[in-house]
Amino acid sequence: MHQERLRQSILRAQSLGFTGDDVDLIERHSVRFAEVCRVVAPVQGAAVDLGSGGGVPGFAIAGLIEGLSVLLVESMEKRVAFLREQIVKLGYTDRVEVFCGRAEVLGRDSRYRERFNLVTARGFGPPSATVEIGSALLALDGVMVVSEPPDSDGGRWQPEALREFGVEKLDVVQNEFSFIVFRKVSPLSGRYPRRTGIPFKRPIF
Ligand SMILES: C[S@@+](CC[C@H](N)C(=O)[O-])C[C@H]1O[C@@H](n2cnc3c(N)ncnc32)[C@H](O)[C@@H]1O
Repeated sequence: MHQERLRQSILRAQSLGFTGDDVDLIERHSVRFAEVCRVVAPVQGAAVDLGSGGGVPGFAIAGLIEGLSVLLVESMEKRVAFLREQIVKLGYTDRVEVFCGRAEVLGRDSRYRERFNLVTARGFGPPSATVEIGSALLALDGVMVVSEPPDSDGGRWQPEALREFGVEKLDVVQNEFSFIVFRKVSPLSGRYPRRTGIPFKRPIF
């Protein structure tokens, strides 16, 4: 039942140009992503999905891990309107919300900073920006799951730079797709995340 609603939601996102053309692939990737999260992350608490776009993988995670509240972060208003419409259609109004704006802003807001047990990112940005912004939202001992290129060995994530951002690599998971998992091991320096856009323009690694 959830799977069928998820598929309808991806089809709608695709028709609006918010996801790629291969709906089967996106659906499978979304579900595999959520399955990794269910194994490595707490099944209760708060999750945040960076750059949710057409709701991938945020809606699959909300469907598979019912004890989680999920914040979808998206800066483009049309996508935010779509996400809000779909939250109602999917019946997630009690535990899924959308923040309309830049994730860097959220990471500097004490109400959100280092408050989430799970941070997810699919296609959000290059590694350095993803971990700088993701770590700002990730609570100590929380986990971050990021989609990786096929057959990744995680080599594009530099261990020293990860330490600078308070995280360490926990695992690279290969199911049908590749994902990397980080754990937050120390608080993030107040220097990060740098102001909006800078993590992308001036990556640390
Ligand atoms: C490539 S899309 C991926 C969308 C979705 N996660 C997926 O996998 O289909 C990246 C999304 O992140 C959003 N985005 C990029 N930078 C952002 C930022 N700094 N804060 C919030 N959203 C951002 C974009 O508007 C876009 O919708």
